[in-house]
Amino acid sequence: MRKETIILVGFMGTGKSTVGRILADRLGWAFTDSDRFIEREQGMPIPDIFRERGEAAFRALETDAIKRLVRMRRRVIATGGGAVLAAENRKAMLAGGLVVALKARPETIVHRVGGGVDRPLLAGDVQNNVRRLYNERRNAYDFANLTVQTDGLSATDVAEVILNYMVKGNR
Ligand code: S3P
Repeated sequence: MRKETIILVGFMGTGKSTVGRILADRLGWAFTDSDRFIEREQGMPIPDIFRERGEAAFRALETDAIKRLVRMRRRVIATGGGAVLAAENRKAMLAGGLVVALKARPETIVHRVGGGVDRPLLAGDVQNNVRRLYNERRNAYDFANLTVQTDGLSATDVAEVILNYMVKGNR
């Protein structure tokens, strides 16, 4: 069966949203970033949710959002970097569509996230926080159906790799 939902997972700064938009455009599908979806529903930016309600509350909102989003067809979904940590999220993603992991070296990630202002888990010493979380989550994205190493590739290149994989029907 041809899966009509693509779920992008990966560490912060691996390009999920940029690649997701390009992919959706090329496929003529809708695009949703789960963080933006949560922000819209809560009427509050992610850093405020973390600060005012705590990470656990954010994770509960994230699980709820993912379970609903993966049921939608003809849609590319970019998930937050920590969305893969809960087994129930991973299960929902695999059941919902083609799960694609975007990977990048920590140096690439540090470069891409810049000051990290929109990302509460990186606030302060961005470089150290990236390295620590990167190590903690080393194998967290390995459950995906397809993994793309994005270092040195443009977002369009990455989208192309995913589209080729889909055309070849390697699922
Ligand atoms: C997080 C990643 C963020 C966002 C939140 C937590 C994480 O999403 O969901 O700040 O735990 O890795 P991006 O991966 O889109 O930056």
